[in-house]
Amino acid sequence: MDNFQKEHELFFNTYKRLPLEIESGEGCYLFSKDGNKYLDLFGGLAVNSLGYSHPKIIEAIEKQIRKYNHLSNTFLQTPQVELAELLLQQTKYKKVFFTNSGTEAIESAMKLVRKWGKKKNKVNVFGMSNGFSGRTYGALSIMDKEKYKSGYEPFLPNTSVIRFNDVDDLISKVNETTGGIFLEFIQGEGGIVPASKEFIEQLFLLREKFDFLIIADEIQAGIGRTGKFFCFEHYNVQPDVICFAKAVGGGLPLGGILGNEKVADVFTVGVHGTTFGGNPVACCAGIATVKEILENGIMQNAIEVGNYFLEKLCMSKNKFPNFIKEVRGKGMMLGVELTHDGSTVAEKMLENGVLINCTNVNVLRLLPPLILSKEQVDDAMKVFEKVFSEFSENNFPVTAK
Ligand SMILES: Cc1ncc(COP(=O)(O)O)c(C=O)c1O
Repeated sequence: MDNFQKEHELFFNTYKRLPLEIESGEGCYLFSKDGNKYLDLFGGLAVNSLGYSHPKIIEAIEKQIRKYNHLSNTFLQTPQVELAELLLQQTKYKKVFFTNSGTEAIESAMKLVRKWGKKKNKVNVFGMSNGFSGRTYGALSIMDKEKYKSGYEPFLPNTSVIRFNDVDDLISKVNETTGGIFLEFIQGEGGIVPASKEFIEQLFLLREKFDFLIIADEIQAGIGRTGKFFCFEHYNVQPDVICFAKAVGGGLPLGGILGNEKVADVFTVGVHGTTFGGNPVACCAGIATVKEILENGIMQNAIEVGNYFLEKLCMSKNKFPNFIKEVRGKGMMLGVELTHDGSTVAEKMLENGVLINCTNVNVLRLLPPLILSKEQVDDAMKVFEKVFSEFSENNFPVTAK
């Protein structure tokens, strides 16, 4: 039995695997056990922002693991303090709470919203249509995608969804009972869809009128991916709470929330906590990652190479107008919306040594490491063009819904 067969036997069947067994990774490349090399353009689904085997991350992990690899939360943990200082100085928020994952960051923020709103009778919490917040009950409660929710009912009370980028729907649903509104400023899983300026403007105007919390889900787009440390900075607004995860731990499980002065005193001793959240080894990897992103031109690279990639993809769109509907995104968060199903395109790319992801049926999602070079974009574009032309010539074998 090979490992794929064993996995099939042993595990709850939750994941669809690629037909690759990875041996190692280096920079933007993954190497399979059978000796093949792959250019990874979805970078651990936005986790591997500095690619694989980054020497500074390895060094930070090694150094900490020899000191202590875990302390209970009855101890102060120096790496947590250092990472907190870095994040708060960069963002000007007031408080942090560390978690292990994105969905736990969402849960933490939801609990914060509920506690903040309780005395004011602001009990209603909203997410956005087509958004993705995670797999726990709080997260699922503010999502509308049947694919993730079906069969898990009932969800949390006083939760629902506003139609993303629909100003009228927003105005009709928000009022003085609103406690918090969660949103991704660029929806990732939803197909790399940016929030419109008008929608964000209206959202923040409504906050002034009704006094609720705005929670930016920066789990996928944050930590430099779009060329700003957090994606909401493109809109010149200041949400009250930020959820982050994925890239922050440099490949180790880490996430958290940041809060402004409005929520700084909501949590008190014992009302929220976690055994592993803010693990010292993960925090050291986080410090190395965040410092590297902030101090060594990584966000600038994300903008420059991201724009270059976008430009090249737009040229492909002009070449294959019947196959490519739209190209969009910011920095290293790019989407290619096809007129047809994208999963077979992703499979063909894989056969040609380039890893991409397909989301929302027909959107090719690119979340490469932020260290990607223009030469690597050129290599990838050769494969994209080959695959796009094959599909065009074959008269688009699969149709998107
Ligand atoms: C925008 C967004 N929010 C939340 C999550 C959930 O994060 P995690 O899988 O770490 O729980 C994800 C994961 O893909 C995400 O992209």
